[in-house]
Amino acid sequence: MNLIFLGAPGAGKGTQAEIVCEKLGIPAISTGNMLREAVKQGTAAGLAAKEYMDRGDLVPDEAVIGILKERIAQDDAKNGFILDGFPRTVAQAEALEEMGINIDRVIEIRVPDKKIIERMSGRRVCENCGSSYHIVYNPPKEEGVCDKCSGKLVQRVDDKPETVLSRLETYREKTEPLKDYYCKKRKLISVEGQEEVSDTAKLTMAAVNAKL
Ligand code: AP5
Repeated sequence: MNLIFLGAPGAGKGTQAEIVCEKLGIPAISTGNMLREAVKQGTAAGLAAKEYMDRGDLVPDEAVIGILKERIAQDDAKNGFILDGFPRTVAQAEALEEMGINIDRVIEIRVPDKKIIERMSGRRVCENCGSSYHIVYNPPKEEGVCDKCSGKLVQRVDDKPETVLSRLETYREKTEPLKDYYCKKRKLISVEGQEEVSDTAKLTMAAVNAKL
């Protein structure tokens, strides 16, 4: 099954992708995590992406499409995948089609802006494996330490309040048109993000299994 998780920054796409990919036995592919890893490694692609990411802008389509294409060609994605953070523009969605990829469902996670700002200010991510936590809503077992790999938990550079607002604007302008795009193709299912991660996970799994 090939799934896309769509939603504003901080809506919980990554959190849900981690849960659903375990249940379905397919990888969650986050272009944001891949780009952050490239920045950390200091690759040419990472250095080029960094200035866009720090400002809260989208990285140019060609660069992200190239990274995604390489990733989904890997063996573990042969039986399906969850795309978290891709596509983010209509051009990226069209590129997926041109690659001959059939998308089964696009699950939109909806969360009001006020809640998003609260979530992002409390988010901490593992600098080693990229797993995401929240200091109140989804805390790690030990403060500041990743449950999965014992890596150090840090705040993302683009989670500063002014950058969050700019990311929300970019989402409205460039990514929201994808809702219409996939609605017309009868692939879009919307889920209301809940207070508890596990409650959203139940709704997300129901959307994964729903008939279209
Ligand atoms: P990316 O990493 O994809 O960031 P994003 O889409 O802005 O999304 P986030 O990772 O911020 O949020 P999320 O929805 O995954 O939420 P999470 O689960 O962490 O991209 C970063 C940058 O990379 C972009 O700005 C861009 O520059 C570039 N980029 C990436 N892909 C690109 C592309 N395709 N094209 C161009 N540029 C691209 O949850 C947020 C917080 O809330 C966490 O702390 C979590 O614990 C908490 N939380 C989650 N669910 C709940 C709940 N139900 N209740 C309470 N708290 C919750």
